Amino acid sequence: MIKFKVPATTANIGPGFDCLGLAFSFYNEYRIEKSDKMLMEGCKPKYNTKDSLFNKAFEATMKVLKKKGSYHAIETPNVPSSRGLGSSANVIVAGCKTANILYGNNKLSDYDIFQIATIIEGHPDNVAPAIFGGLTASVKLNNGKYYCKKYNVSKNLYFSVLIPDFKTSTEMARKLLPKKYSKEDAVSTISHSILIIEALRSGNYELLKTVCKDVIHEPYRKKLIPDYDYIKKTVEKNGDAVLLISGSGPTLLVISNKNNFSKNLYLKNTKANWNIKSLKIKN
Ligand code: HSE
Repeated sequence: MIKFKVPATTANIGPGFDCLGLAFSFYNEYRIEKSDKMLMEGCKPKYNTKDSLFNKAFEATMKVLKKKGSYHAIETPNVPSSRGLGSSANVIVAGCKTANILYGNNKLSDYDIFQIATIIEGHPDNVAPAIFGGLTASVKLNNGKYYCKKYNVSKNLYFSVLIPDFKTSTEMARKLLPKKYSKEDAVSTISHSILIIEALRSGNYELLKTVCKDVIHEPYRKKLIPDYDYIKKTVEKNGDAVLLISGSGPTLLVISNKNNFSKNLYLKNTKANWNIKSLKIKN
């Protein structure tokens, strides 16, 4: 069987709603081979179906390749699902790669896969880092294609994720958002997200602390995370770290300039159980 892996990702990074993402050195692994009949193993049986995201991505890529055939895949799903760590984008990218490796002789470029996978996912912010790694800024162009620029993230910054013992759905978290935003919110978002890229790329933690404010999604989604206000206050109290919602949540992303930050976290009085994981960026 052929093996490959796809990284866990975090999307938005505060004000970069639906456009910024980061890849972690923490992966779902896939083993694949050609087969006459679709068979997906290693995951929950509900994902061994024609309408799974993996299979939709496989079929969409086969259509682009103009090929017929199926697969036997075994997934090692390390990235928890419905937690804001890009598990949907992960399996979509894996489905595209499976078709490209088994039937396309790797003819499609990462950029081609980025287009196919983003159409299935609906937005590019988790898909881009799952394919290109690092910090990615993505945009939908006037011709309907997606463009992405990748940056390496500074080694001066340390990342942890706080993963709770409950799930939320992206669909529900998107329904909570307003249909329209004010000009002030638009200007705030543009200016903060430009400088977030600079802070992550250069490792300027003081800048990062100043510009990670989001007005587009976090104020509306925090009600889905009962401990959000408490943890944010605790984590940011001494300026030790910044805390953001990872993707649509409920995982929280902690960025610090101290590598032992997670040991100092104070999570004793929380309602949920939180699993702290320190992660390196996959540049
Ligand atoms: N940008 C997306 C959102 C990421 O926040 O809804 C989750 O897929």
